[in-house]
Amino acid sequence: MLRERKIAILGLGKIGGALASSLVRNKIVSKENIVGTTGHRDSALEAAKRYGIKTLTDNVRALADAQIVILAVKPQTMKKVLLEIRDAVRDDQLIITLAAARTTRFIEEYLQKAVPVVRAMTNTPCLVNAGMTVLCPGRYASKEHIELAREIFAAVGLVAIIDNEELMDAVTALSGSGPAYAYIMIEALAEGGVKVGLPRSLSTILAAQSLLGAAKMVLETGEHPAKLKDEVTTPAGVTIDGIMALEDGGIRVTLIKTVDRATEKSKELSQ
Ligand SMILES: NC(=O)c1ccc[n+]([C@@H]2O[C@H](COP(=O)([O-])OP(=O)(O)OC[C@H]3O[C@@H](n4cnc5c(N)ncnc54)[C@H](OP(=O)(O)O)[C@@H]3O)[C@@H](O)[C@H]2O)c1
Repeated sequence: MLRERKIAILGLGKIGGALASSLVRNKIVSKENIVGTTGHRDSALEAAKRYGIKTLTDNVRALADAQIVILAVKPQTMKKVLLEIRDAVRDDQLIITLAAARTTRFIEEYLQKAVPVVRAMTNTPCLVNAGMTVLCPGRYASKEHIELAREIFAAVGLVAIIDNEELMDAVTALSGSGPAYAYIMIEALAEGGVKVGLPRSLSTILAAQSLLGAAKMVLETGEHPAKLKDEVTTPAGVTIDGIMALEDGGIRVTLIKTVDRATEKSKELSQ
């Protein structure tokens, strides 16, 4: 169904580019059916080379033939782009917005028409088909629109659907920003390995694969993380000493505060 649709991605930066290349690589959409835009001619030429798709700097031209329009510009650029495309957008097009802190109501109001909008919070691991995307429908989006959006993001990772848009700030703080927190954990664990004599490259692989494996265990067994942790923790063994150091450093409260603060920031930006 999706392969025949034409998609315009307005804002072919990190996340728009990751999505475009994943859709093409996974043969979800053919190259000929995707067009992307950037803010500058140079970046458009570079993106065309990198992703092998047609690129433009003219948003209105880009969306003319599209059935699905993906807004992937920075939140602060969104207003300008919406004003630019307002007269060209049709209500038979599905608008999918990827921007943090920009509500479906914000998009609908700037477009000034009853156009279906789906808000999506995704993350950069969609580049390796391990993305996490949460979708939320706007006022005019039907079940079919959500299904179409689900099809796009299911090709590049897991998808969850929520109705309460207020939760999107928390989603942004947890899974939108989450990869950044995980990179810091991988980097720090790898430093630990270096501290005790492992070569850095090996240490980084051990750290990354341990996080990946643990994440897969949680997702695929459905077990509570605490139970899985207990299974690694032999009485008077090695792990419990490591855990003691983690708890001493306040890892739990630090991570809880991380999501809490980032959620507040997202709320603040949404105002
Ligand atoms: N990065 C993430 O992990 C992540 C995760 C979840 C959600 N998001 C959301 O995704 C959106 C994009 O973030 P990003 O990190 O991908 O930003 P980015 O890398 O800076 O990309 C922004 C893109 O928008 C283009 N652009 C600027 N002005 C434009 C215009 N008037 N018309 C069309 N394109 C224009 C830029 O082109 P130039 O380079 O030529 O200016 C660039 O290609 C944000 O709203 C963010 O909240 C990002």
